[in-house]
Amino acid sequence: MTGSLRVPGDKSISHRSIMLGALAEGTTRISGFLEGEDSLATLRAFQAMGVDIQGPDRGRVTINGVGMHGLEAPDKPLDLGNSGTSMRLLAGLLAGQGLPITLVGDDSLSSRPMRRVTDPLRQMGARVETSASGTAPLMIHPVQRLSGIDYRLPVASAQIKSCLLLAGLYAEGVTRVTEPAPTRDHTERMLKGFGYPVEQVAGSASVRGGGVLKACDIDVPADISSAAFFLVGASIARGSELLLKHVGINPTRDGVITILRLMGADIEVLDPRDVGGEPVADLRVRSSALRGIRIPVDQVPLAIDEFPALFVAAACAEGETVLTGAEELRVKESDRIQVMAEGLARLGVDVTPTPDGIVIRGGSISGGRVESHGDHRIAMSFAVAGLRADGGIEIDHCNNVNTSFPGFVELASGCGLGISAHKED
Ligand code: S3P
Repeated sequence: MTGSLRVPGDKSISHRSIMLGALAEGTTRISGFLEGEDSLATLRAFQAMGVDIQGPDRGRVTINGVGMHGLEAPDKPLDLGNSGTSMRLLAGLLAGQGLPITLVGDDSLSSRPMRRVTDPLRQMGARVETSASGTAPLMIHPVQRLSGIDYRLPVASAQIKSCLLLAGLYAEGVTRVTEPAPTRDHTERMLKGFGYPVEQVAGSASVRGGGVLKACDIDVPADISSAAFFLVGASIARGSELLLKHVGINPTRDGVITILRLMGADIEVLDPRDVGGEPVADLRVRSSALRGIRIPVDQVPLAIDEFPALFVAAACAEGETVLTGAEELRVKESDRIQVMAEGLARLGVDVTPTPDGIVIRGGSISGGRVESHGDHRIAMSFAVAGLRADGGIEIDHCNNVNTSFPGFVELASGCGLGISAHKED
């Protein structure tokens, strides 16, 4: 793989830019917005709640904020498609609006656990119902008021943390969330960017309800989770040198760089800079001989979305790679441990799934046909595996690649990963 490229905008930051821009006073201008289905689901949800949002047009979005209490009840359920971030963050943001709102999603999203957000929201006084199995649809009923809570997260999850902080904007008193391990802190950073005070002390973040958000301009960096496919691809493909431009390297997201470097990858961080409160850099990656490692458990939340790609790196490494402490991977867009294990096994890789991780013994990858189970990151990871496979890899059910990475096929082809996409139903 050779060349230089900029992958699309960060998904997490794109979601949050719409949410906070919609509730702000004044006009928020966003550039670099991810025009993927997930962040578009958030954008459309706010349009359906009466917010004037222009774009996206080549990554530019303009939001005329309605203020903290200006949202209107939508006339039908908000459809959040495949997007767990939209559903969990909106559950919190909408819990204290005093509006009746139902949140629905696709089959994958409708099977993901939601009590992790509805239980603490109820403790705050919200009325949010799930299905009997604790999944979407989520029914939000109007309540008089929310009260701040002091909540210790049972799992390291930025979605739960963000959900509660967003609900906390509408609660009486202080809402404090303490996490068992650091998770992505884009919500905290962006709240501050919109002039909303957030107190951060030793593993906890707190907000006091009743404040206001002031519109600001946001430059969304390229998504390190999308860059990850190229970091792995260029590491495993012989003779590679790639430059990935303007990538967000927030320390709560950079586990993929740390883990790949521990495996022997050659990744340089060039021109590190601050862009609107988020660290950004260009990344140069060259081919290298990877070796298997025991992945440090503290890196798991910092690389949580990058494991499908990292498993492909492990399959190309010499020796054994062991992942533990990653049971959360089983409740992502698919069960990423099982689905990757099955696919890699089909490609002749020696792999053993465990309840909270996987053991992969590196070697050669053969061609074959694998199932992505409609999970965008699984599909792209197997595409990257094609760089080292002895034969072609055929991947089924790839349409959801557009949820996080529109243009993946073209961008990957442009730097040497030959992919042909076929229409699917
Ligand atoms: C996200 C948080 C992560 C991640 C997801 C996006 C976010 O989920 O997997 O893709 O934007 O807050 P968890 O925090 O639930 O692990």
